[in-house]
Amino acid sequence: MNTETFQTPKGVHDILPQEHEFYTFIKKVVRHRARQSGYRRISTPIFEFTEVFKRSIGNDTDIVTKEMYTFEDRKGRSLTLKPEGTAGVVRSYIQHNMATWPQPVELYYIEPHFRYERPQKGRFRQFWQYGFEVIGESDPAIDAQLIYVSLKILEDLGLAQKCELHLNSIGCMAKNCRPKFVEDLKNYYIGKERSMCAECQSRLHKNPMRLLDCKEEDCKILAELAPKLSDYLCKECKEFHEQLIDLLGEMNITYTPNAKLVRGLDYYTKTVFEFVEKGDDRAMNSLFGGGRYDGLAEILGATEPVPGIGFAAGIERIVDLMKREGVTVPSKDALHVFVAQLGYEAKKKCIPLLAQLREAGVKAVGALGKGAIKHQLRLADRFEVPYTILVGITEVREGTAIIRDMKRGSQKVVKFDDVLEEIKKLIGEEELDTYTPGEVLY
Ligand code: HAM
Repeated sequence: MNTETFQTPKGVHDILPQEHEFYTFIKKVVRHRARQSGYRRISTPIFEFTEVFKRSIGNDTDIVTKEMYTFEDRKGRSLTLKPEGTAGVVRSYIQHNMATWPQPVELYYIEPHFRYERPQKGRFRQFWQYGFEVIGESDPAIDAQLIYVSLKILEDLGLAQKCELHLNSIGCMAKNCRPKFVEDLKNYYIGKERSMCAECQSRLHKNPMRLLDCKEEDCKILAELAPKLSDYLCKECKEFHEQLIDLLGEMNITYTPNAKLVRGLDYYTKTVFEFVEKGDDRAMNSLFGGGRYDGLAEILGATEPVPGIGFAAGIERIVDLMKREGVTVPSKDALHVFVAQLGYEAKKKCIPLLAQLREAGVKAVGALGKGAIKHQLRLADRFEVPYTILVGITEVREGTAIIRDMKRGSQKVVKFDDVLEEIKKLIGEEELDTYTPGEVLY
């Protein structure tokens, strides 16, 4: 016999039922806040043509050079598991001609993503994100409102006090804006290679802006004295950012200006922001990240400029912080009733009873195999039900059932035909898990 057992591959994890209670709660909060502001849900495929990500995220970024799960299909076409959501959503906007919809188009998603990263705390190879994108218009008021929604979600999750918003503008591609800054930044670093980590040495010519957010001590010192992007912003970018700051003030949103926040994806222009855990000085693990991407649609083939902005949050990181902060989530999984039976005649009566209980919204499980009543009661305890219904040979003969209150250890005999009503009364109408067809459950 082959005794080999399997574990999940490195960097991926099962989401077990108790974990799913958090996921369900987060999804509910996200859907609620999305609906309130007119966002509608989108799902793009798990994989896209590799080119969609290469062009969007940028050929020299860490994601594209090191982290993509890329494979060929049977016809030799290169496909990639999505490492992030924005590229696919913008591709979809163009493909489905969403420019003809009322603008801006507001979309959100809750999806798994895949990056071949070095697994560590808060960093997985498959991870879930919820993300919001506003596509089709550019105005600081849009940025402010998106940030507001992202903050409201954090509040609903009980985490707002634990996080802080970092904000920056990384300018645009106009010659006198970011390109001029990048040129001066390179010149500043050239000649200092020996004080830079190996990673930064290779970034210097490929992706110089990332030199600013390196976490190595020596590189951090160099970054402190480097040219500041805020001194290079063109008039339009500067005004845009000032207005955003003004509007955030109007909405009482506090933020930390962070000149070193550049983000790891190439498509950003102007506004970039991240939410990080307070006290996480190394800011290794942002909870959310986002920004404006006014040039992305054209890179993906749009014939007209289509501005956009969005953010995405890592659900694993959020769950981790909720747990560390002791945030509890309501669970609908708790069972009401355990049905224990003895003998085949009792089983025949209990199967329809279970169905009736469930139809009425009583969450019920039953021991329908063999086993002594004592054993079944122990099982009922482990399911942590408040009530157990017992039907044995005597009860079948007499047309009764026993309802046992598991906490008190007391029990009473009721007519079998009255069991359902009795149990409903004990549990209470508002506790019943009923569903009216057509009702929106989330
Ligand atoms: P990102 O900063 O790469 O941005 O990821 C957003 C969030 O996803 C991070 O803040 C983090 O919480 C989570 N995350 C990223 N990588 C991992 C990982 N390996 N394991 C666990 N969690 C992770 C984006 O993905 C952009 N598409 C965000 C955006 C939307 N920008 C505009 N629209």
